[in-house]
Amino acid sequence: MQKIISTNIVSKEQSGKSVSGFSKLSKRGKLKWIVNNFFKDPEHVMKELSGYWFKDENDQKIIDGLSENTISNFVLPYSVAPNFVINGNEYAVPMVIEESSVVAAASHSAKYWSTRGGFNARVISMIKEGCVYFIWKGDFGRLTDHLTELDQLIRISCKELTAKMEARGGGILKIEFIDMDHEEPGFKKLNIQFDTCNSMGANFINSILEEAAMVLRKWFKDHDLKSDENGEPEIVMSILTNYTPQCLVEAYVECPIENLTDIQGMDALTFANKVYKAVRIATVDVGRATTHNKGIFNGIDAVVLATGNDFRAIEACGHAYASRTGQYRSLSNCSLDNGNFRFSITIPLALGTVGGLTTLHPMAKRSLELLGNPTAEELMMIVASTGLAQNFGALRSLVTTGIQKGHMRMHLQNMIWQMNVNSEEEASIISHFDDKTISYSAVRDYLETLRSKNL
Ligand code: MEV
Repeated sequence: MQKIISTNIVSKEQSGKSVSGFSKLSKRGKLKWIVNNFFKDPEHVMKELSGYWFKDENDQKIIDGLSENTISNFVLPYSVAPNFVINGNEYAVPMVIEESSVVAAASHSAKYWSTRGGFNARVISMIKEGCVYFIWKGDFGRLTDHLTELDQLIRISCKELTAKMEARGGGILKIEFIDMDHEEPGFKKLNIQFDTCNSMGANFINSILEEAAMVLRKWFKDHDLKSDENGEPEIVMSILTNYTPQCLVEAYVECPIENLTDIQGMDALTFANKVYKAVRIATVDVGRATTHNKGIFNGIDAVVLATGNDFRAIEACGHAYASRTGQYRSLSNCSLDNGNFRFSITIPLALGTVGGLTTLHPMAKRSLELLGNPTAEELMMIVASTGLAQNFGALRSLVTTGIQKGHMRMHLQNMIWQMNVNSEEEASIISHFDDKTISYSAVRDYLETLRSKNL
């Protein structure tokens, strides 16, 4: 094993698997330390991982600036699902996802619905929230009695922070106290609602909340609440909530049941009934609901990631919302009223199209351009529609052929590439396995037989 000699400090005590001062090493130094200490063939791995660096140093700097301790870039496929018609507008939707069949399913559903009225979507509300959590055992009424004054003080104190957002039409919407005493004695929160316009607004919200916490502390001190035997509040923390049930969008497709044609040989009514039942199963059974919603997030996350939004926040919120009745349920709905098939999703999506990664990441910028530089509301509708398309695609496979047929067809293509077959062999393999179970050994055996016959 040949070690790569680093010009950077890799002192004796740093030569094991622990290190101090790692963050201070140069990027190359970090990579060298990692390959020397964790890989069997440091030279090869060094070459491989640095091979993923961008050639253009400035491009690389932008990516490195997004995180810490970066040593390389992790590549994922950047795909497009064309033929989405949403509220009459046509989109080619960018998707970043590593799972095969997802983009194919989204594209297929998009095309299918493009000739059946397309997707319809509307934003129900755009409110985001955050809280200053504090503990105070006094009478809750004494807080609410003086809320108007506190509200004014917070708005004045946050004037500089809110000026730009207000100029864009957003800012602080509502300030209120919420008593959590029934959950935990003394626990309360100062809840603030925001309109962050086209930005996701996390920094904006958190800055205001931290300022509001200071105002709250002073308000308690200055006010006659100080004479209360319960004294000052203990402020625990100030943070936005990723649970945004009031930043909500609905998307749906609908058509007369008889128009559900071209479904793998299944008649329209049987298909509609099966989809309806599949959604009901995901509504009542948590086991199925989790997989059903995972499929929805296959589509949602892929667009969220491609547009530089925070997919962890979107997922966390979506799953919390799916549990809002006390049981985790399907995020999509299906109805079959008066001969009409309606398939819909209502989901909170706190997305941004300005600021953060959406502006910094060169690919995110291109994704937004590809979508026609949408507003946050438009992006919410596009993302919800993609999630619904994904769900429709999954259900269509599940209630007809099963998902393995499509998956295995993709795998078959991968196997064919790996096996170095010529175009005649490829055509023969594809036709042979059209109605047979696909496995690596079956394909290899078939190829061997084919070649031995052609000898
Ligand atoms: C696989 O990633 C997603 C599906 O399992 C979703 C579903 O079952 O609805 C196909």
